[in-house]
Amino acid sequence: MSRSASLSHAPAALLLAALLCASAGAVAQGKYPGIGRPATPAEVKAWDTDVRSDFTGLPKGSGSAKKGEEVWDAKCASCHGTFAESNEVFPPIVGGTTAEDIKNGRVAGLAKSNEGRTTLMKLSRISTLWDYIHRSMPWTAPRSLSVEETYAVTAYILALGRIVPEDFVLSDANMAEVQARLPNRNGTTTAHGLWTVKGRPDVKNTACMKDCPTEAKVMSQLPAHARDAHGNIAEQNRVVGPVRGAVTVRAAAGAAAPVATAAPAASADRIMAEKNGCLACHGVDNKIVGPGFKEIAARYKDAGGSEAKLAAKIKAGGAGTWGAIPMPPHPGMKDEDINSLVKWILGGAR
Ligand code: HEC
Ligand code: HEC
Repeated sequence: MSRSASLSHAPAALLLAALLCASAGAVAQGKYPGIGRPATPAEVKAWDTDVRSDFTGLPKGSGSAKKGEEVWDAKCASCHGTFAESNEVFPPIVGGTTAEDIKNGRVAGLAKSNEGRTTLMKLSRISTLWDYIHRSMPWTAPRSLSVEETYAVTAYILALGRIVPEDFVLSDANMAEVQARLPNRNGTTTAHGLWTVKGRPDVKNTACMKDCPTEAKVMSQLPAHARDAHGNIAEQNRVVGPVRGAVTVRAAAGAAAPVATAAPAASADRIMAEKNGCLACHGVDNKIVGPGFKEIAARYKDAGGSEAKLAAKIKAGGAGTWGAIPMPPHPGMKDEDINSLVKWILGGAR
């Protein structure tokens, strides 16, 4: 898989874990008895979806910017804004590029400020945009777009950015022509790192030759506020292999007061909230994009009749009660599931 695989989201990772578990349950055979079988070519193909910058892996197909507008309005605008300009939590995708940039292949605005950088300002390979959308958007239903929808919505984004005309039809045959018009196509450089070390990019370090640390300390940490954002990570690992997730319903060792003393099994409602993507935006205790579930419970504690109102809000989406950021609608969910989630939230989301 390419680097961009790391951009994929938890649901895809969970699905992968589920696939691996499924194959582990199959009849043991071959060189490593007891740990499954080699993946079949069809299984590998299903995951080998990356599109490289030379367009290897790009499926044949096409989609018009016109059709892309429909896809955008139905599946993307609720988060990224009608003109992809979102200036709230969701990344702004279009804006900040000029005809001059298209000519030069370098976005002048990037040099001016770190603020308000949009996807089209930064993007240097059109394959990345196509691949990212196909693999991970819409956020709440990654990998649900067809090949045609992906070409179409990519074409629409490019048309909003005036990189292609409004009646453009993007296809595997003309991706290279679009690449040659990307405003920031000449924008990549290795003359910087993610951080600077002693005034230099971290990619340009020299090896330590004297008084060097003898042991590397490998660690991975979750900030305290994010620990419980996606449920108990310890329960989400498969039991083979060396990796164990932290028990995230407890505070980290050495940190202040534990959140809970034991890791309770996730309730059916909690699993349903996870499955429907609610926990991507709502922590139990803390605000993420939307308010924490316990904050919601506290607010409606004494207000009678709020269950129906909240159920309707989850179904239809909306903003204004907690701030300007909208919750997207959930038209596909069953009423009984929504009602059950509302009861669970108002009861403290245990
Ligand atoms: C429920 C909200 C939501 C919806 C709906 C949604 N997105 Fe996103 N989108 C996000 C979030 C959040 C991110 C940032 C994800 C990250 O950084 O891991 C993102 C990132 C992106 C990016 C990358 C931006 C960048 O510069 O890194 C693109 C491109 C994108 N979305 C396109 C789309 C398209 C096209 C659709 C519709 C098919 C869509 N999104 C629907 C929330 C959403
Ligand atoms: C893309 C982010 C996002 C997702 C996904 C999401 N929410 Fe929300 N939710 C929000 C935001 C933002 C608000 C605050 C809206 C407001 O201010 O009116 C909110 C508000 C709420 C409220 C309080 C409504 C009110 O009027 O006080 C409830 C209850 C709620 N969400 C439940 C859910 C449930 C259940 C799910 C999953 C089915 C879910 N949310 C999915 C972002 C999200």
